[in-house]
Amino acid sequence: MELKQSYFELYGENEITQYRWEQLQEIIAAAKAGRSPELKKQDKEGNQWYLSEKMAGMMLYVDRFSENLKGFEDKIDYLAELGITYVHFMPLLKSREGNNDGGYAVSDYLSVDRKFGTMRQLERVVKLLKKRGIRTCIDFVLNHTAKEHVWVQEYKKGNHDYDNMYHMFDDDRVPQEYEKTMTEIFPGVAPGNFTWYPDLNKYVMTRFYEFQWDLNYSNPQVFNKIVEVLLTLANKGIDIFRLDAIPYMWKEIGTRCMNHPKVHTLLQMMYQIVQEVCPSVIFLGEAIVEPHEIVKYFGTKEAKECNVMYNASLMVLLWSSLATRDVRLMERSLSKDYGVPADGVWINYGRCHDDIGWGFETDLLSELGWDPEAHKQFMIRFMEGRYPGSFSTGELYEFNPVTLDARNSGTFASMCGLEQALKEKHSYKIELAVKRILLLNSIIISYTGIPLFYSGDEIGQLNDWSYKEVPEEAGDSRWLHRPKMDWEAAQKREDLTTVQGQIFQGIRRMLEIRRNCEYFRSDLKSTPVDLDNPAVFGFHKENKMMVLANFSEQEQWVDADRFSWFGLPGEMTDMLTGRPVRSYSNKILLGPYEYLWLV
Ligand code: GLC
Repeated sequence: MELKQSYFELYGENEITQYRWEQLQEIIAAAKAGRSPELKKQDKEGNQWYLSEKMAGMMLYVDRFSENLKGFEDKIDYLAELGITYVHFMPLLKSREGNNDGGYAVSDYLSVDRKFGTMRQLERVVKLLKKRGIRTCIDFVLNHTAKEHVWVQEYKKGNHDYDNMYHMFDDDRVPQEYEKTMTEIFPGVAPGNFTWYPDLNKYVMTRFYEFQWDLNYSNPQVFNKIVEVLLTLANKGIDIFRLDAIPYMWKEIGTRCMNHPKVHTLLQMMYQIVQEVCPSVIFLGEAIVEPHEIVKYFGTKEAKECNVMYNASLMVLLWSSLATRDVRLMERSLSKDYGVPADGVWINYGRCHDDIGWGFETDLLSELGWDPEAHKQFMIRFMEGRYPGSFSTGELYEFNPVTLDARNSGTFASMCGLEQALKEKHSYKIELAVKRILLLNSIIISYTGIPLFYSGDEIGQLNDWSYKEVPEEAGDSRWLHRPKMDWEAAQKREDLTTVQGQIFQGIRRMLEIRRNCEYFRSDLKSTPVDLDNPAVFGFHKENKMMVLANFSEQEQWVDADRFSWFGLPGEMTDMLTGRPVRSYSNKILLGPYEYLWLV
């Protein structure tokens, strides 16, 4: 549908819409005129660059990684050494003082927060990265702003252009109506979806933390303002916008206020505008919702929305397979066709800055004869490290003592057993933990999509328990897995007798193979193969390569007849070691947590 038609359908055919539409045209025209010749040149190549096998991302908090943007410049070599080709800067726009949910409470979209540096410095970093073939991604928190945002200030000053930018109510009648069906995001740390402000004499919708005010997208002025910010930042050279918390953008009484069809209209309009102004820019959508809902955010061939989306399903399935030593749930889930469009790409990851919520497909669990609630409880306790025999060390997030429901926090390495093994000084357990880390990474890097690493995980950083001493962080266990980058430990990355060296070099090598082989392009699909061994995950990529991965600490035999169409064992080579694969009576032996990339 044409942009204009969508806009008027969404906002109604009236004078106000007409006025706002004209304003939007001016915003678009100004952004086009302001786009630099270099960026226009880049735009000519379109946006399909994200399908390349060369893509590999790292997400980081600037202050925790390099103190500030200036310091970041010295760390670019390190990223390039690992093979990173896009950097995701966690929220770095100006955010409120005190608790700001890790920067997700923006008080000014057009300046960089003082603690990281200036907008000039950001632009400089973007250019330096680009010279090294590294793209820049920033967080774009567009569902809400901080309650101190400049738009709130304008409203408070009585500037009527800023009326209705947020959801405000004189009494609690409407909020009560919303609450009947609206889901809660932080039921423990920030219960309820509305807050009463005596100074304003208003209830305001505050879906996340109290200091995060939900923007009111039913007002076309909000859409225009957000588009203006988006285009301004795009003109600073940003390539990827991570659209934060998109399922919540549209609110309507009587709905869950989640995944509303109108969110899709908003995203389609934004995509069209980007195509018009800065067509090399792409959207990474953050929608941690059910798999069949996530895929909708790619949009359709005719009406595109996000180019890339987080593969939350693969992430939880990897942890589930590791904890149970059983890959059948993963194999079945990944075999399902959710209708991802041909150029819709997943970001594959094991850990990010958020907690892990156990969103399994309950019908698939039932098919396996697993009780969905029992499996969830098992995962919660296993990853926390409380299940007997668990190798993981972590914490609960948003634990509900009544339902026992919870999500989990912990770093990649700690949840793979490294923290426990180091504490026990148990060399074989350390070896197994490193193997688990590399095993999960072998899937993240080889499965169709773009691999993404959380900074510090490439050297196996452990949980950071010190957050409990920081008042703004103590109540939010997600800080457990957001440690400061340990540069001293990173210095050991060339020494293969250290865990840092083994993990860093293992990942580096896999990324090197990946970027030099077109089998890792994101438009080559992966298809799971049933190997008749619950501990071994296998998949092939359009018959060009085959991956075998043993998710248990026991040796496992795999019957090569299961994939005889792919080739005979003697004819196959492991890309990772260059060695031919040997078989015994047509069976392949995999060591503990061993993985092979066969061609
Ligand atoms: C996203 C972020 C999360 C943040 C929330 C609110 O889910 O990943 O860290 O708390 O949005 O902005």
